[in-house]
Amino acid sequence: MNIIEAIHARHSVRTFSGEPLQASVKKALEEAINNSRSPFEGNVTMRLASVGIGEEFRPSTYGVIRNALDFLLLGFANDKWSAVSGGFRMEQVVLEATRLGLGTCWVGGTFKKGSFAKAADLPEGQTLRSILPVGEGARRTGFLDKILRMAARSYRRRPFGELFFVNNFNTPLPEDGPYAGPLALMRLAPSATNSQPWRALVHGNQVDFYYKPGNFSLIDMGIGLCHFDIGCHEENMTGMFAVNNLPEPAPEDFEYLISYIQA
Ligand SMILES: Cc1cc2nc3c(=O)[nH]c(=O)nc-3n(C[C@H](O)[C@H](O)[C@H](O)COP(=O)(O)O)c2cc1C
Repeated sequence: MNIIEAIHARHSVRTFSGEPLQASVKKALEEAINNSRSPFEGNVTMRLASVGIGEEFRPSTYGVIRNALDFLLLGFANDKWSAVSGGFRMEQVVLEATRLGLGTCWVGGTFKKGSFAKAADLPEGQTLRSILPVGEGARRTGFLDKILRMAARSYRRRPFGELFFVNNFNTPLPEDGPYAGPLALMRLAPSATNSQPWRALVHGNQVDFYYKPGNFSLIDMGIGLCHFDIGCHEENMTGMFAVNNLPEPAPEDFEYLISYIQA
């Protein structure tokens, strides 16, 4: 499975087989953690750890995680670019896990105390902001799991033309328009409560990215931008992320984040 196929194949898995990860798989995930990169600044820590949480784990947010033994842990400093970088780098690990045939589920929340915080052992100034069970998915997904996926509208994404625009926010970007390939991959990215907080405005040789602020939306942006960046590499684009000092005014409830600019 190549990375583009992994983007298409990935979906949240909340019920696991209960089998621990094999040593070789752990090693591959550790390598993915070490190889992950972000074009944005920030202080990020990622770890792979076995955490005993029993058969069922109910995060403070939503969802039920079953029979998970191994977790990816994501901590970062309390600033905007650390959150974006955290999402950007951890999604690379998620896609590598997908390529290895493993299931994952991003779980947001605050994990200040307890076994996750202990296992994360974060440096001063960082907070554990997400945990992701990782392992072989149960062969039969639970009934609840299916209901939850439907409730979170997991199978659905907003139409392309509601997310991405060209020249101004009144003109939807055609699905064969500039940057449509990388943006189509962004559209498939996971986001907290499937909120898809990302919007993009293409003009000339650049794309401006906007987001709807919310609890996890900067992590979501990092995840979405990771997919977009993979798409740009796939199409041999050689642009760079940079802040545009005079972006188009954001649509209501949205804020400008960053642009991708091709020379
Ligand atoms: C930052 C973040 C936090 C999330 N938090 C939770 C959570 O607390 N509980 C849960 O069951 N799913 C959580 N999810 C998973 C999303 O609900 C899921 O990605 C979304 O519904 C899209 O479905 P898909 O991943 O199957 O494509 C989270 C996802 C992200 C990106």
